[in-house]
Amino acid sequence: MKAVVLVGGFGTRLRPLTFTRPKQMLPIVDRPMIERVVGVLGRHGVTDAVLSLGYRPDAFIDAYPDGRCAGVDLHYAVEPEPLDTAGAVGFAAASAGIDDTFIVVNGDVLTDLDVAELWDFHHSCGAEGTIALTPVDDPSRYGVVPIDDDGRVTAFVEKPAPGTAPTNWINAGTYVLEPSVLERIPKGRKVSIERETFPGMVADGTLFALHSDAYWVDAGTPNTYVEVQLDLIDGKRGTDEVAVDPTASIHPTAVVDHSVVMAGVRIGEHAIIRDSVVLPGARLDPRVLVDGSVIGAAARVGEGAVLSGMTVIGDGYEVRAAAHLDGARLPEAG
Ligand code: GDD
Ligand code: MG
Repeated sequence: MKAVVLVGGFGTRLRPLTFTRPKQMLPIVDRPMIERVVGVLGRHGVTDAVLSLGYRPDAFIDAYPDGRCAGVDLHYAVEPEPLDTAGAVGFAAASAGIDDTFIVVNGDVLTDLDVAELWDFHHSCGAEGTIALTPVDDPSRYGVVPIDDDGRVTAFVEKPAPGTAPTNWINAGTYVLEPSVLERIPKGRKVSIERETFPGMVADGTLFALHSDAYWVDAGTPNTYVEVQLDLIDGKRGTDEVAVDPTASIHPTAVVDHSVVMAGVRIGEHAIIRDSVVLPGARLDPRVLVDGSVIGAAARVGEGAVLSGMTVIGDGYEVRAAAHLDGARLPEAG
């Protein structure tokens, strides 16, 4: 099975962390997000992944120079300009010579979804395209997808106004597509698969979908970026992962509570870190309090500073001593 992995977005909701790298190169506990996404595909039978790149493509090419990632062969398709989700699929498929049934995934989704099961369902329906669906509490952030009793999609509503969604089953960002879908994507301009291609297939009755209860989180916001990592250290996806990297240096009087502390982090005396993620090489001075927040790589938090309310500090940024930040994003520009 071949898969196109969409990783070309700007990651605006994760700024400032994405000023310095693409979203899918952000670490999730101990390795970049992309390795987890591609790794799950590999475990379900995908042998080749085409990375659909736009924003900061070199970050991926530099990280996997031999074209292998989590046991899967990589192919790089770099868009000359952002083509949006369907345009990106068309460009990537053409550049990798895809001419048979293939898989597409949104590269910011952490899931245990069984793509082989989706693949089999797709073929049993004789579908042109098949979407995996997952249930969420608030569908308004996602593509909402009602189906009939046969699994045929009856509408595709991208990001409906709050309270108007016809169902809470949403597009999980994993598709099985026939090559004929590529003919539906006009070349040379932005095309959204959610707003243009899928609604066209709904009108033709060729789009199907399958409900899944597998673990699923879109890690594309600060809250969900933290959530997926706390889920991993809490063992919600199988074995508990190690929360504190062995190379981190934590003063014996500091308290690290339900948080991910990555390689080379230094935490001073009487600091308290709770429900948070601290990226590699960050330095937290004595008596800081970090609660429900994210500290970027090699950032520094000055003595006695208090960070809460999903404050996000960018790579290398220095928070002054005794600062009080609640829901802050610093720096504000890249
Ligand atoms: N190559 C390329 N080019 N990739 C892109 C582009 C582009 O122009 N725009 C976005 N992407 C990539 C992003 O990097 C991400 O991996 C994926 O496409 C989806 O984009 P997001 O920006 O994360 O979309 P979303 O989360 O708001 O909504 C999408 O995902 C939801 C599930 O997580 C939609 O597909 C929704 O329908 C879906 O429910
Ligand atoms: Mg997303």
